[in-house]
Amino acid sequence: MTTTNPYANATLATLLKDKVIVVTGGNSGIGKAIVERIARLGAKVVIDYRSHSEVTEAMEVEIGELGGCSFGVQADVGKLEDLQRLIDTTVDRFGRLDVMVNNAGIETRASILDTTPEDYDKVLNINLRGVFFATQYAAKQMIAQGGGGRIINISSVHEDWPMPNNTPYCVAKGGVRMLTRTAGVELAAHGVTIVNVGPGAVATPINDSTMHNPELLARLNAAIPMGRMAQPEEVASVVAFLASDAASYITATSIFADGGIMQSSPGL
Ligand code: BGC
Repeated sequence: MTTTNPYANATLATLLKDKVIVVTGGNSGIGKAIVERIARLGAKVVIDYRSHSEVTEAMEVEIGELGGCSFGVQADVGKLEDLQRLIDTTVDRFGRLDVMVNNAGIETRASILDTTPEDYDKVLNINLRGVFFATQYAAKQMIAQGGGGRIINISSVHEDWPMPNNTPYCVAKGGVRMLTRTAGVELAAHGVTIVNVGPGAVATPINDSTMHNPELLARLNAAIPMGRMAQPEEVASVVAFLASDAASYITATSIFADGGIMQSSPGL
C-alpha cells in the first residue's frame, strides 16, 4: 500500500498561511529570524520578548509593511504567570494557538567548580522549567481547542553533546531532550506533536564573546566540518518547515542544524 503525503506539492507559504504561532525570545537572535521568516510566509505571529520593546515595535512595523501580521507581548518565560498570560493573550487576539516555539534561552559560562546556585537556578528556570510549563500550557490550549498542534523547542547540540564550562546549560538542554521525547509520546494521542531543533554555533548575541575573539572564533570554525557558524536564518528555515503540516509525522525527536559539529572528528 502506498500513502501519499497530502502536503507534498504545497508551498510553505500555503501551509503556514494564518497559522497562529508564538515565538518566545522573539526579538533577538534565532527567535527574531524565526519571527521574520514565518511572518513573511503568512503566519500570524506573537512575538514574546522580555526587554527592548523598541526592537519588537520596529519588527511589528516592518512585518506590517510587508503585509504580514504580528504583535508583541512582554512576558518573562521564567515566570509561570507570564507564560499563561502569553498564551491567553494569543488566544484572545487570534482565537487559537497552532504552534508554540520555545526559543528563549540563556547561558552563563563557568566551570562546574565555580557555578553558583544562583546561576544554576537562573539557567534551569529559563531553559528548562520555562520550556516545560510553556509546553504544558500550550498543549492544554491545543487540546481544549481541538485539532492538535505543534510545539517546537529550540534546544542545542548540547542537549546531547558536552560543552565544558557550560554545565547548567547542558543540563537544561539535556532535560529538554527528554521533555520532548516523553511529552511527545504522551501527547501524540491528542494530535500534539513536539520536536526539538538543535542548532550548533549560530551568529547571535549569545555568542558575541566568541565572535569578538578572533583566536576563539578560528578554533570554533576549525571544529565545525562546514568551517563556519550558522546564520540565524539557517535555523529559521528549519523551524518554518517544522511549523508546517509538511512535517506532520515528526514528533518526540530532535533535528540538528549544526554544520556537522556533533560528528566532528580530527581523524586521530
Ligand atoms: C551555545 C553556544 C555554543 C554552541 C556550539 C550553543 O548552544 O549557546 O554558546 O557556541 O552551542 O557549541
